[in-house]
Amino acid sequence: MSLLSVQGLHAAYGDSRVLFGIDLEVGQGEVVALLGRNGAGKTTTLSSIMGLVQPKAGRIEFRGRNLAGSEPFEICRAGLGFIAEDCRLFTSLTVAENFEAAKMASRSGSSNWSIDSVLELFPDVRNFLDRRASALSGGQQRMVAIARTLMGNPDLILLDEPSEGLAPLVVDALLKQLKRLKQSGQTVLISEQNLRFANELADRVYIIEKGEIPYQGTPAHLAAEPEVRQKYLMV
Ligand SMILES: Nc1ncnc2c1ncn2[C@@H]1O[C@H](COP(=O)(O)OP(=O)(O)O)[C@@H](O)[C@H]1O
Ligand SMILES: [Mg+2]
Repeated sequence: MSLLSVQGLHAAYGDSRVLFGIDLEVGQGEVVALLGRNGAGKTTTLSSIMGLVQPKAGRIEFRGRNLAGSEPFEICRAGLGFIAEDCRLFTSLTVAENFEAAKMASRSGSSNWSIDSVLELFPDVRNFLDRRASALSGGQQRMVAIARTLMGNPDLILLDEPSEGLAPLVVDALLKQLKRLKQSGQTVLISEQNLRFANELADRVYIIEKGEIPYQGTPAHLAAEPEVRQKYLMV
């Protein structure tokens, strides 16, 4: 059974419909990428799973329990963690205080992150533990936001466009750290526009276009489909 199973998800902002029946699955320990161009519906999909956007229709099953219609805090308690593109750190707190504020025991017992183990994954973060989050660069904020979410011991993390807006060298550093996160066994659903970034991390990929999923496969399969990449990703 999948850890997360999204079935027939529809979502809208007011009268403007954005998602038209999204189906996707994430298994325990998998890294799954949701790839698509700007405006395709990636953030709306993750926000709907998290309850930040109320789905119009569809099921969002987590460990077999339907979470569609639940409040974000309930979804968070069920074991999902969301890292928004804008990170949403407590900017007036230091990095260490952000970690303290996010500490939560795992519901399922499947993960057991501590400050020490998170810092092993993101060693650079040690250098700015006492800095206020508002004083960090974009790449540092991204790392801290991921590390902070891990402190809540989520069973599944939803990571929205982590490479967006970062310089190439910073993207490479982040990729390395996310590979270590994957090796730790953490289950991740990642949204990306950056095909290379997603392909290096993901076990499976879904392409989203205009609120629908026209393609799913493995990174190797997608690598052998230049027309698909051209049509939906322009690469
Ligand atoms: N808060 C919002 N209100 C109205 N429309 C929105 C809002 N957020 C996103 N949209 C629209 O929904 C569509 C999908 O957006 P989004 O999910 O942010 O795409 P992506 O994350 O793939 O770039 C776009 O057409 C976008 O303009
Ligand atoms: Mg987005």
